[in-house]
Amino acid sequence: MTDTAISDIDYDTAVRADFLHFVDDPDRNDQACRYIKNGLLLLKQGRVISLENFNGELNDNTTLYDYSGKLIMPGFIDTHTHYPQTEIIASYGTQLLEWLEKYTFPTEAKFSDRKFADSIAGFYCDELLRNGTTTAGVFATVHPESVDAIFSAAQKRDMCLISGKVMMDRNAPDFICDTAETSYQQSAELIQRWHRKGRALYAVTPRFAPTSTPAQLEAAGRLVEEFPGVYLQSHVAENHDEVAWVKKLFPERRSYLDVYDHYGLLGERSVYAHCIHLDQADRERMADSGAAMAFCPTSNLFLGSGLFDLEKAEQENTRVGIATDVGGGTSFSMLQTLNEAYKVCQMAGQSLSPLKAFYLATLGGAKSLYLDGSLGNFDRGKNADFVVLDLQATPLMQQRMVNADSIADMLFALMILGDDRSVAATHVMGQPRYLKDS
Ligand code: GUN
Ligand code: ZN
Repeated sequence: MTDTAISDIDYDTAVRADFLHFVDDPDRNDQACRYIKNGLLLLKQGRVISLENFNGELNDNTTLYDYSGKLIMPGFIDTHTHYPQTEIIASYGTQLLEWLEKYTFPTEAKFSDRKFADSIAGFYCDELLRNGTTTAGVFATVHPESVDAIFSAAQKRDMCLISGKVMMDRNAPDFICDTAETSYQQSAELIQRWHRKGRALYAVTPRFAPTSTPAQLEAAGRLVEEFPGVYLQSHVAENHDEVAWVKKLFPERRSYLDVYDHYGLLGERSVYAHCIHLDQADRERMADSGAAMAFCPTSNLFLGSGLFDLEKAEQENTRVGIATDVGGGTSFSMLQTLNEAYKVCQMAGQSLSPLKAFYLATLGGAKSLYLDGSLGNFDRGKNADFVVLDLQATPLMQQRMVNADSIADMLFALMILGDDRSVAATHVMGQPRYLKDS
């Protein structure tokens, strides 16, 4: 990092703070983490121009955000979540299949009402921002209106969300089922309406193999083929009963993952939540296909699903992102999600370092979603989505930071003790979209 005079640089916005971001995976490159104390981030039209040590007078007409003493990181990326489940977060007493029947399906039925969908979508986006999350992979419901609601709410806040209409044509109550044909038609229309409109990105979204007929999975495969560049999101190998059910429904397939593979649903820009109960052949296939695993620690613990094996995923060079999986997951906070991820790894005798954890929540997440060309760190030209973190947000954090002896130690305390209270502000495309104390 050099000290630079800034008078010759063309910028319209300046942000002063300490900064931390990654240029690579810190487990594979010991120069991957960049920590800039008293840094100055210069932006033009919401994009990064430079990140340097502060030196000299700012140009006239510059908008300055002075967060001196705070730590700025790229906005967190939540690779898998369900906005319609906001209302049922923290629902007691069940594992996956019963939880879907008892809580999820009834609440998702309400999203046929556009007004209701709008109100939850707005709340959900604000809650993401309150937690420093600026990009997410988001399930809507089976209703096309629910997709319009979430993309409209994201557009109002200039956020980059990936979302899509849930496709499900069996093994769920009639009032939230579509058909293979209507799911194809509605998804195609939504892709044309939303994909790459502003920052919106569309994901073809078959809920999971048990709630789709072979005809519907075929239709999902056709959508992915006919609209190159769209995403595909679903769930796989989350729960033992679910895996056994898929075996019964698709006896001719080698494994649960092979069902998706058979229908052309496994490749770049495919995001599979959970990936817990996979065998070695599945793991190799995930890695080779370029698909991403979404590691959902709070959900996997809450629903008693099992422990994600991060080390194995890393050994295979699989793309991995971190995810809240709200509302099976129990927090919107990516800090709390990293806390639980650390503990899940501990249960397997693995150690998730704080640098790796924050890498996964930022650049690693962006890479898993093929968005690292525009998101994930402060490289020149990237979109200036960032979170302003207060490492002194609570009396306990203040006490803990007294003896923190390195940036890694501070980050570790932040991910274990921090939550929405640690988020001082969140900016999207350079603009403040959440300010804690206002
Ligand atoms: N599998 C199918 N649908 C869901 C869902 O909504 N949440 C979780 N955690 N798993 C699923
Ligand atoms: Zn999910």
